Amino acid sequence: MSKLYKCKKLETTLHFLPKEIKYCCSNTKGLGIDIKDTNFDNLKSNIKEAKNKYIKQLEKGILPKECIGCVDYTECSEKNTSLFDLSSLFKKKTYKISNIIVSHFKECDCSCIYCSQKYLQDPHYKKYEILPLIKALYSEKLIDEENLTVEFQGGNITMLKEFDAVIDEFTQHNCNKFIININGINYLEKLEKIKYHPSSVIDVSLDAGTRETYKKIKNVDAFEQTISNIRRLKNATNVHFCLKYIIIHGINDNIEELTGFLNIAKDLKVEDIVIDIDFRDTMMNHETVFIIPTHYYELFKTAKEYSSKYNLGFYIPEYTKKILDKERY
Ligand SMILES: C[S@@+](CC[C@H](N)C(=O)[O-])C[C@H]1O[C@@H](n2cnc3c(N)ncnc32)[C@H](O)[C@@H]1O
Ligand code: SF4
Ligand code: SF4
Repeated sequence: MSKLYKCKKLETTLHFLPKEIKYCCSNTKGLGIDIKDTNFDNLKSNIKEAKNKYIKQLEKGILPKECIGCVDYTECSEKNTSLFDLSSLFKKKTYKISNIIVSHFKECDCSCIYCSQKYLQDPHYKKYEILPLIKALYSEKLIDEENLTVEFQGGNITMLKEFDAVIDEFTQHNCNKFIININGINYLEKLEKIKYHPSSVIDVSLDAGTRETYKKIKNVDAFEQTISNIRRLKNATNVHFCLKYIIIHGINDNIEELTGFLNIAKDLKVEDIVIDIDFRDTMMNHETVFIIPTHYYELFKTAKEYSSKYNLGFYIPEYTKKILDKERY
């Protein structure tokens, strides 16, 4: 019984990074090409060829080395594959992009100790603009306009000069599904102007319940300012807010700090909270097996119970759930 692999992200995603464009999701792994080898005049065939090449490999049961350890592929066997799926293997497929991740800039107005951008750092990285690329993707009909979601990672968008124009380009094409990660330190008026689709989310990593711990993590003294900016933006829009807490070993991995954070989330009336584990211990740690300290489970449990008591949505990202369940990684 031979194996096949499928990866939804490879089929649907385009990810702009500082030095490359990836055809799937992942920052540390993933398939893509160096920005210097990207042929901007022939973007359409560039992207299509690359996606098709890797999708065909997965369909033949070959897992590219870049995918090993990634949580995003699924494995199936030919026996379990329906006739419909099998016949579709022989058809020529056109994959349209329904998920764009904007993360080609790394400038920020703070300096978190855990920031994954530091792992991508190269002082000589060549800045490129994505607005011309987005326009080209639309004019070459590579975007699934009905279903497109755009996620801003970064860096922080307050530092992205193109931000307003990029938002205008998407909204002019009726895209209003946005996932926007911000640190909340500086206020961005443009965020008030978007008519968000109900599936949109603004995600703020607060990571602390006190000013002192916030300062230790972010290296700026902007705890109160951030909370007040979240309150202001929340009052000005209908968008769903998610407040995030990344558990950092020896810094905020205690119940008192977490409780302070949970009380703020309740007070701000954010819709969801997300608890995650520092990637430096998990997906960026390729050297050793990370054994989750037992008190981390207590933190997750406390957050879950608090959320249930006060009617907050509670989430753990998929990859972290799998680590907690001792699956892949
Ligand atoms: C790189 S940030 C950029 C957007 C924005 N500046 C922010 O911090 O939200 C995108 C997301 O990655 C998360 N992130 C960055 N480094 C991380 C780490 N070491 N572990 C877990 N999450 C991390 C941040 O919390 C944020 O939600
Ligand atoms: S399995 Fe992971 S690395 Fe491979 S194509 Fe999918 S998202 Fe990218
Ligand atoms: S706010 Fe975001 S981009 Fe800025 S340093 Fe922190 S994690 Fe990195």
